[in-house]
Amino acid sequence: MVLVLGSKGTLGSELVRQLKAKGTEVAAFDSDLDVRDAEVLIQKVSELKPEVIYNCVAYNAVDLAEKETEIAQSLNVSAVANIREAARKVDAVLVHFSTGFVFDGSSIKSYIELDQPNPQSVYAKTKYEGELEALKYPKAYVIRLNLLFGKSAESENAKKSFPELILGLAKNQKEFAFVTDEISTPTYAVDLAKATLDLVGEKYPFGIYHLPNEGQASWLDFAEEVFRIKGVEVKLNPVLGESFERAAKRPKNSVLANTKFPKLRPWQEALKEFLNSN
Ligand SMILES: NC(=O)c1ccc[n+]([C@@H]2O[C@H](COP(=O)([O-])OP(=O)(O)OC[C@H]3O[C@@H](n4cnc5c(N)ncnc54)[C@H](OP(=O)(O)O)[C@@H]3O)[C@@H](O)[C@H]2O)c1
Repeated sequence: MVLVLGSKGTLGSELVRQLKAKGTEVAAFDSDLDVRDAEVLIQKVSELKPEVIYNCVAYNAVDLAEKETEIAQSLNVSAVANIREAARKVDAVLVHFSTGFVFDGSSIKSYIELDQPNPQSVYAKTKYEGELEALKYPKAYVIRLNLLFGKSAESENAKKSFPELILGLAKNQKEFAFVTDEISTPTYAVDLAKATLDLVGEKYPFGIYHLPNEGQASWLDFAEEVFRIKGVEVKLNPVLGESFERAAKRPKNSVLANTKFPKLRPWQEALKEFLNSN
């Protein structure tokens, strides 16, 4: 049996769906098992004795994290240490997720798994420290991704994915400005969940992996493709990141290169399938 934490989030709910479809026995918890409470968590994990723990819990509010530092720290760092210790107690494999925002974005190339992070915001720092916590355990995978999109998370507080957000706005708004000088790698929750289960199932060596969809996109590229696929006519204006007032600094380049695992399909193909399935 396996345990999914953050099971109502965008990624967690997709992992649960795919695990169940494979016939795997799954214990799934969201805020009903507070991962910040080490004692309760360790007790629960000791009872369940999962072979694998998928940690999909995170504090993902990039700008708000600059103010809510303690909350970001507790979910993205301390909770990971709790989960790692719980995994250690029962000798479970730990699967933890992180972000391309751990890099500073100054490279002109895409980032490989071995590149040195240099986080530039509170969110990015906490995600990087969370990686280090997970990697203190020898049976841990840290999987980085960017710009996650997929079915709306079941949990009310969870972050809405970008295509959903802009298509909703386009019902009343016909002109948008999107950033062109920050490039990243969109990641489809369905493809990421499948790759994650294959990685674990095929017993790849533990360590850091980059599992985004292939290709790269600025926010403008991503938005253009969403509207194009859905046939929504809007006017899109390119802007530079610095012209938006945002509390957190973003890397100009957070493109992740996957050099250790079979490549996922291009993000445009994944996006088309996602938007046509809704
Ligand atoms: N979304 C992105 O664009 C993106 C980009 C790069 C990396 N990632 C990483 O990918 C992973 C999955 O992200 P996601 O977007 O799927 O996350 P998400 O949709 O925001 O889901 C996170 C889940 O964690 C739950 N949670 C929050 N606090 C908790 C607590 N104290 N105890 C137990 N559960 C708690 C949330 O429940 P409530 O809502 O009920 O609190 C929510 O269901 C994360 O590691 C994230 O950092 C995401």
